[in-house]
Amino acid sequence: MTLDLTVDELLISTRSVRKRLDFDRPVPREVLMECLDLALQAPTGSNAQGWQWVFVEDPDKKKALADIYRANATPYLNLPSPVRGDIRDQQQEAVRSSAAYLNENMEKAPVLMIPCLEGRPEGADAGMQASYWGSLLPAVWSFMLALRSRGLGSAWTTLHLIGEGEKQAAELLGIPFQHYAQGGLFPIAYTKGTNFKPAHRLPAEQLTHWDGW
Ligand SMILES: Cc1cc2nc3c(=O)[nH]c(=O)nc-3n(C[C@H](O)[C@H](O)[C@H](O)COP(=O)(O)O)c2cc1C
Repeated sequence: MTLDLTVDELLISTRSVRKRLDFDRPVPREVLMECLDLALQAPTGSNAQGWQWVFVEDPDKKKALADIYRANATPYLNLPSPVRGDIRDQQQEAVRSSAAYLNENMEKAPVLMIPCLEGRPEGADAGMQASYWGSLLPAVWSFMLALRSRGLGSAWTTLHLIGEGEKQAAELLGIPFQHYAQGGLFPIAYTKGTNFKPAHRLPAEQLTHWDGW
């Protein structure tokens, strides 16, 4: 079942959901596969479609993944927040508190998902990096939009990948580390309520260039 949202409403209300993830409501595999089918319509360089999607439901593996995440996220979240002198400063405490909650509760999400892409981007120049990650991340965002349209939510996270974390996660899940890179770690759950507001962002005019920088 999908929510009654226009495309624009979907685009402005797909948030990083952390405190409103419903840890008690099971997520059927059929729903995840439906979202993935939609996500796989995303573009890939040379039509490579080199992606693999790892869904983790096993409680012990979720706990182990959450521990890997926490080993990196806890020190990161304890760093002082950056001061940017604009609207982002007012949001920072809410983001920090929300991220701290996810850090403490990651394994409680019914499903954790890791999108993987064939090859490894280490040492690649900007063109290769853009082509590499551009062949995975549009599909991940489509997946998040599809979740949202069905009353589920997720949060884009990357902190588990830092240092040895990616390799530890690969060993835990049997991901062939030499041949596939991981794009992130996504907790998935139904959301508590389905009403999500647009975020306050820097205005587009401030970020736009015409005919040159
Ligand atoms: C590349 C990337 C990495 C991120 N990594 C994390 C993360 O490791 N942990 C986390 O809690 N949120 C993470 N986020 C979520 C951001 O904090 C979030 O997108 C931002 O605060 C804006 O909030 P919104 O997504 O609700 O609009 C990440 C987002 C992106 C795009």
